[in-house]
This record gives sequence, C-alpha cells and structure tokens, in this order.
Amino acid sequence: MLQAPFYDPSKTYYENWEEGPFNGFADGVVLPTGEPRYDFLGEKLSYPIGIPAGPLLNGKFVKAALDKGFDVPVHKTVRSRARESNKWPNVLGAEIDGDLTLEKAELPIVVKPEYKEPLSITNSFGNPSYESEVWMKDLRDCVAYAKSGQLVVCSFEGTKWEGFSHDDYINDWVQGAQMIKETGVKVVETNFSCPNEGAASLLCFDVAKVKLITSAIKEKIGDTKLVIKIAYFGDHELRELVREVGGIVDGFAAINTIPAPVVNPDGSQALPGAHRVRSGICGHAVKWAGLDMTRRLNALREELGMRYAIVGCGGVTVPQDFKEYRDAGADVVMTATGAMWNPYLAKEIKEVYPNA
Ligand SMILES: Cc1cc2nc3c(=O)[nH]c(=O)nc-3n(C[C@H](O)[C@H](O)[C@H](O)COP(=O)(O)O)c2cc1C
Repeated sequence: MLQAPFYDPSKTYYENWEEGPFNGFADGVVLPTGEPRYDFLGEKLSYPIGIPAGPLLNGKFVKAALDKGFDVPVHKTVRSRARESNKWPNVLGAEIDGDLTLEKAELPIVVKPEYKEPLSITNSFGNPSYESEVWMKDLRDCVAYAKSGQLVVCSFEGTKWEGFSHDDYINDWVQGAQMIKETGVKVVETNFSCPNEGAASLLCFDVAKVKLITSAIKEKIGDTKLVIKIAYFGDHELRELVREVGGIVDGFAAINTIPAPVVNPDGSQALPGAHRVRSGICGHAVKWAGLDMTRRLNALREELGMRYAIVGCGGVTVPQDFKEYRDAGADVVMTATGAMWNPYLAKEIKEVYPNA
C-alpha cells in the first residue's frame, strides 16, 4: 500500500532539499543491519537492495535510506559546478495502462498530482547540483555514517558551459569522478542517460564517446569502481556498448527513465519550459524494460566472458519485483519510485526473502 512519500512532490526541489526527507524517512527509526555477506564490486553487502540516483537529494536523505536498510544508497546526480533545478512541478503521477512500451511512449501520457497503485510517475529535475563543496562534505559524512555491509555510491554528470571545448567536457567528467573518490566513496556512477536535459540524443547511445569518457575516468580513479547508468537499449546497440566498454567499466546500472510526452488532463503541456515537452517516466510501467535489460546484460556477460556487475532498476515497488530482478541476474536491485512511497520497502523485501 502506498504511504506518505519521503520526497514531497507538492514542494519544490529546494524545499525538499532544505526540509526533507519527510514522513517515514523522518520517523527516527533505525533498523538493524545484517551480516555483510553479498559480494558487490569488491565490497561485502548486508543485502543487495538500494535506492538509485534521484530521490536522495543530499546527505540527510542518504543517511535516512541507510537507517531504513537500503544498503546501497546512491546520492542524486551531482555536477562539478552549481546548476539550477527545472521549475516546479518536478514529480507527478502518470496514468499508464499496463507497460509503457516504446510505442506507447510516443503518445501523450496524462500526468497529475495523484498517486495510485500500481504507481508510475514522471520526474523532471534536469540534474541540478549544489556547489561541489556542499555535496563533497555530505558524501564524507555519509561514508562515515554507513555501517559495515552498507555502501554509499554517488552519481555524476559532466557539464557543458559557455565556450567549453571538447577536452574541457571530457575533463569535467574525469575531475568529477575524482572529486567523488576523494570523499571516500568507493563506487562512482556516471549518468549517461538523463532524458530531462533536452538533449536530442542520450550520451549512452554514443558508444565512442562513452568509451572515451570511461577510459579517461578509469585512468584517473584507478581502483575506485565505475558504474555507468544507461537507458533502455535495443539488442544490437546493447551488444555493441558491452563489447566496447564492458571491459573498461566495473558495472552497468539499468535503466533510467523512459521519456514520453507528458500532458495535463486537458491535453496541454504539463511541465513548464520548451525542453520539457517530453519527460522521464518511472515506476511500475517501466519494470518490463529494466528486467529485459538486466536479462540481456546478464546473458552478454556470460557470452562474452566479462565480469561487470549489474545494477537492476525500474519499477520495483513490491518484494516480488525484487526477486524477479535477482532471478534475471541483477547483483544489486534498486528502487526509486517504490521506495519514495514506501520507506519500509527494503525491510519488507528482507522479510519476504531473508536470502536474496
Ligand atoms: C525523483 C527522481 C529523481 C531522479 N533523478 C535521477 C538522477 O539524478 N540521476 C539518475 O541517474 N537517475 C535519476 N532518476 C531515475 C532513477 O534513478 C531510476 O533510474 C528510475 O526512476 C527507474 O527506477 P524506478 O522505476 O524504481 O523509479 C530519478 C528518479 C526519480 C523518481
């Protein structure tokens, strides 16, 4: 059953950042952590469940997630320099009948401030960031706060600015990953798949550039692990990506949201701003896509004899969804929408499946 969310969609990103987290993530309950027993990227986890980059806006949110047994929380995507958030609203309920197939995602989806089961939503922030001093301090605190068996991850996105050169841009990714490493975080995630920035094509589909950026990052951060966050891929494209970068990166996280045109019930554009006609959809309706990607990444890993980790994500809202992802080959399973509306989802999953 849906509970009051820890991120309040009726408030702005900034109000959530200052005042949140809310409801179940602010109840003060700290759940016990189990023995570290699951291998993930050279670390031992108590349990392979996490919250992906997004709902955990800052250190307060990450610590609350750790308290509630989400043993692999990912700090929302940050940048090397401050960037404003897209204007409110940033989260709305999405009315979708069944799966959001790629065909359905070409048609308008009605969104409104109503959240019903099975829950799907749209989210649109544009990867805002505070100055690096702010998130670096938060990350240091969170790394110190995590218990044995818990692993704090942080997501990063490179930034283009007025007059930037190609090399500046690559270097921005490299420096960002290095800044995260300096906070003590052992796993850096790069967000190559944000659909809410208005870019015509996602970076993850440009395999040559992904290879260039990931090679440069790995050269810099050495033993620190690198996971790349990707969108839903076709068979041929995924094979090419894995062939080219599966031996460079330490893991793939899939999926990000599926973009679709979002409208008000009267058919007008739902989110303010020319670049926000389409917006990322997540939650129940995209589970098929996350599972499908997990299965294919798993099959390719075996076929190509690679060792990368798989972070499965998309539409996990009840314990059975977690099990489906594990069976599909996910080393760690993550839930954003499901966790937002159920702060005790990790606890429920652990109760239903004591051995993941
Ligand atoms: C409120 C919200 C904010 C998000 N922000 C980010 C982000 O900053 N970086 C990122 O890589 N993905 C972001 N995402 C996408 C999630 O990490 C995840 O890939 C997607 O929501 C699918 O998972 P879900 O169905 O469990 O929500 C965000 C999702 C939500 C719900």
